[in-house]
Amino acid sequence: MSHSLVTMSYIVAAILFILSLSGLSNQETSRKGNYFGMLGMVIAIIATGFSVSMDAFGLLIAAIVIGGSIGARAASVVAMTQMPELVAIMHSLVGMAAVLVGYANFMDSTITVVGVEKTIHELEIYIGILIGAVTFSGSVIAFCKLSEKISGKPLLLPARHFLNLAILIAVVISGAVFLQQTEGDVGSLPFLTHGGALPLVIMTVLALAFGVHMVMAIGGADMPVVVSMLNSYSGWAAAATGFMLSNDLLIVTGALVGSSGAILSYIMCNAMNRNFISVIAGGFGTASGGEAAVIEGEVQPVTAEETALLLKEAKTIMIIPGYGMAVAQAQHTVYEITKLLREKGKKVGFGIHPVAGRMPGHMNVLLAEAKVPYDIVYEMDEINDDFPHVEVSIVIGANDIVNPSALDDPNSPIAGMPVLECWKGGTTIVLKRSMASGYAGVGNPLFVMENTRMLFGDANATMQAVLKALKD
Ligand code: TAP
Repeated sequence: MSHSLVTMSYIVAAILFILSLSGLSNQETSRKGNYFGMLGMVIAIIATGFSVSMDAFGLLIAAIVIGGSIGARAASVVAMTQMPELVAIMHSLVGMAAVLVGYANFMDSTITVVGVEKTIHELEIYIGILIGAVTFSGSVIAFCKLSEKISGKPLLLPARHFLNLAILIAVVISGAVFLQQTEGDVGSLPFLTHGGALPLVIMTVLALAFGVHMVMAIGGADMPVVVSMLNSYSGWAAAATGFMLSNDLLIVTGALVGSSGAILSYIMCNAMNRNFISVIAGGFGTASGGEAAVIEGEVQPVTAEETALLLKEAKTIMIIPGYGMAVAQAQHTVYEITKLLREKGKKVGFGIHPVAGRMPGHMNVLLAEAKVPYDIVYEMDEINDDFPHVEVSIVIGANDIVNPSALDDPNSPIAGMPVLECWKGGTTIVLKRSMASGYAGVGNPLFVMENTRMLFGDANATMQAVLKALKD
C-alpha cells in the first residue's frame, strides 16, 4: 500500500473514532458508536499491516492472533460484575506497551536523529515511559482493589504528600541527567553502558512506585475517579507511543482517549463533589479526623407479598439500582415488574446515580440490556428534587448512593457526595441480602429510618417473588 493510501486510511479511521465517541455519548446511538469504533480499528490494523516490512508483517499477524484470541477469550468469559476489573487490567497493558516501546526505542541503534530532533526523540521516550509506568502499576493496583484482592481502604503513609513531591523532583532531575547523558550517544552500545540508561531505569522504578502509592492512597468511594483517570492515562500513554513510533493515528487515538477520559474524570469529580487534585493526591474523605457515626435503630423487614401490596397501592414509583442488581442479574425481572406496573397506569422511573455500580454507565448498560426504555431512565440531578412526590422507592442492591450520612455526617468517608434522597418520599424498600455495608464500607442510616422497609435476600429471587405476588 502506498504511503498516501496508508495516510488516507488513518484519516478515515480517526474520523470513525471521533464518530464512535460521539455515538457513545448517548444511549440511543451507543450501539452505532461501537460499530464505528470497530470499523475504524479494522481499517487502522489493515493499514498498519500494509505499511510495515514483510518481516515485520509476519510478527504483526502472530501478535494479532495471539493477543486477539486472549482478549476475545477474556471478554467472553468475564461476568458483567467483573467488567471494571477487566477494563483496569486492559489499561495496565497499554501502560506496559508504552514502557516496552520506550525501552525498545531507547536501544534502537537504527534511529539516527541528531541535534534538536534527537533531544525531542529522547524526551518522547522519557515521557512515554513515565506515563506508561504510572498507568501500568496504578492499573494493576486498581484491578486488585476492584476485584477485592486487596482492601479498598486507603493506605495513608504519614508523609505521603512529601513523598509524592520528592518523587516528582527526582523524576525531573533524572530527566535532566538522562538528556545530558544521551547527548552525542549513538545508541549502539549494550543497554547498561548506553548513555542515559541509569536515570531512565531510576525514573521507571520511581514512576512504578508512584502509580502504586497514588492508587493505594485512594479510598473506596473515590475509586470511580481513579478508574476514569487511569483510562485517561492509558490514552496519553498510547499517544506517547505514537510519538515514539511516528504513528499519527496512534497519536490522534491516544489523545482522543486521553482527553475524553480526563473530561469523564472531571464530570465524575463534579458528580461526587470532589476536588480532582485532592483525589489524585490521595486520602480524600479521610482527612476529617473523626469516625463515621454508628448506626443505631430498629430494622423493619418486609415480605415480597407486602412489597407487592405497597406497589399496587402506589401511583408514582422510583427504582434505584446499584451494584447488587448487577450481582443478582436482576435487571430482566425488574423490567418485567416495571412493565406490569406501567400497564396498571402507574408512573415508574429509574433514578441513576453517576457512580452506581463499579464503572461509569454500569446501570445504564444493564437497563439497556433488559430493554428498559431510555425515556424512563433519569440522571440523579433530573429527579432528586422529585422524591417528595414519589410514593414508593425501590432500592435494588444499592447502598452508598442512597446513604443520607453523605449529607449530614461530616465525619463520614463519603461526606459531601450527592446521593439519591429517596427517604424524602413515601416508603423506601431496600433489597439486599444482609445489613452489610457497601463499597465505601460505611453504615447506612437509611436502613433504620421510620419509612424504610428491608426486603432481605438475593435481589433477583426477591424481585421474582414480588413479580409473582403482583400477578396473583
Ligand atoms: P454499594 O454501595 O457497593 O452497595 C451494593 C449493595 O448491594 C451491598 O450493600 C450489598 O449488600 C448489595 N448486594 C450485593 N449483592 C447482592 C445481591 N445478589 N442481591 C441483593 N443485594 C446485593 O453499591 P452502590 O450503591 O451501587 O454504590 C457504588 C459504590 O461503588 C460507591 O461507593 C462508588 O464510589 C463505588 N465505585 C463506583 C465505581 C463506578 S465508576 N461506578 C467504581 C468503583 C467504585 P448485601 O451484601 O447485604 O447484599
